[in-house]
Amino acid sequence: MKVLITGGEGFIGSSVAKELTKLDYQITSIDKRNRDNYVNKSIDIQYEKIDITNYEAIKEQVKSAEGIIHLAAVSRVIWGEIFPEECIDVNIKGTSNIIEAAKKSSKKPWFILGSSREVYGETNGEPISENYPSNPINTYGISKHAAELLVMQYSKQNKTNSVSLRFSNVYGDLTDILDRVTPKFIMNALLDKPLNIQGGNQIMDFTHISDTTDGIIKAINMLQSLEENSYYNDLNLLPGESNSLYDLIEYIRPNIENDIKTTITEGRNYDVERFVGNPSKAEEILGFKCKIKFKEGVKKTIQLYKNELKNNKEKLLKKFEDDKKCELP
Ligand SMILES: NC(=O)c1ccc[n+]([C@@H]2O[C@H](COP(=O)([O-])OP(=O)(O)OC[C@H]3O[C@@H](n4cnc5c(N)ncnc54)[C@H](O)[C@@H]3O)[C@@H](O)[C@H]2O)c1
Repeated sequence: MKVLITGGEGFIGSSVAKELTKLDYQITSIDKRNRDNYVNKSIDIQYEKIDITNYEAIKEQVKSAEGIIHLAAVSRVIWGEIFPEECIDVNIKGTSNIIEAAKKSSKKPWFILGSSREVYGETNGEPISENYPSNPINTYGISKHAAELLVMQYSKQNKTNSVSLRFSNVYGDLTDILDRVTPKFIMNALLDKPLNIQGGNQIMDFTHISDTTDGIIKAINMLQSLEENSYYNDLNLLPGESNSLYDLIEYIRPNIENDIKTTITEGRNYDVERFVGNPSKAEEILGFKCKIKFKEGVKKTIQLYKNELKNNKEKLLKKFEDDKKCELP
């Protein structure tokens, strides 16, 4: 089966591409950046350097796909605030481009959107189910909400099967953007630098990349097995485990030799303070359940980063410095 992954050079896209090639899928990855990450060079996929905001460039790739996993995006809340036009352009117009090309395809590809818990906005701290109202508080969340609506409309009008998967604080590989909180805290702790806590009261639902990847593959299986051909659903793909930044620090502490130093600065007004999701709908529909608890995932990730610092220190430090610049890929 031919599957198109947009954003296939990214953190989640490269992990999914790697797993799908083991299952005999033919993968085409489209991404606007070069093939320079830690994973993809070693796996057998077709790579096209394409910007999804360019409709003419993507339509040929979409034409041959039997399924689409759409992950290309301005993928961080902070980027959406610094680069709102690009965020709207890529996450909404880019999604619309892929969908318009898919509508014209005789293959009627199934569609998976990489969405986000940011569509909910601020919550009451209780586990949030998919029927909780969408009330995003930042540009990124608004763009993902709009992208979900486009995908829902695509399914209904074009009689195709689709799902929006709401990811939450994914972590756990070297291909991550190292400026995100989990890898940033781990890297700084390993390098004996202070960990800067912005705000401090945030509650988050952290997901290990292997669980996210497993959930995406389960979603593919579900979409392929459906008889119905105008199915749409939105699903939280997360563990439903509540952790604070202080918990993260406590999970890091026993796995490193240095004493951890912390600084505290003011929180950002575009960050959601408290979010924990309810994963029971994904469990019911996909048979999905996260296997890795955050404490264990942090330990595994520290080991991975420690090994890389031992074997490929310069490469990892360069990526850390590059990711800190907070520039769009
Ligand atoms: N990582 C998380 O914690 C998380 C949480 C919620 C949602 N998501 C969503 O999951 C998806 C994947 O996230 P990720 O962590 O792998 O992000 P990532 O930034 O590592 O990967 C996104 C990829 O999209 C590519 N891209 C960006 N703009 C593009 C464009 N105009 N044309 C073509 N390619 C473009 C980037 O080059 C990058 O390789 C994104 O849609 C993101 O919004 C991620």
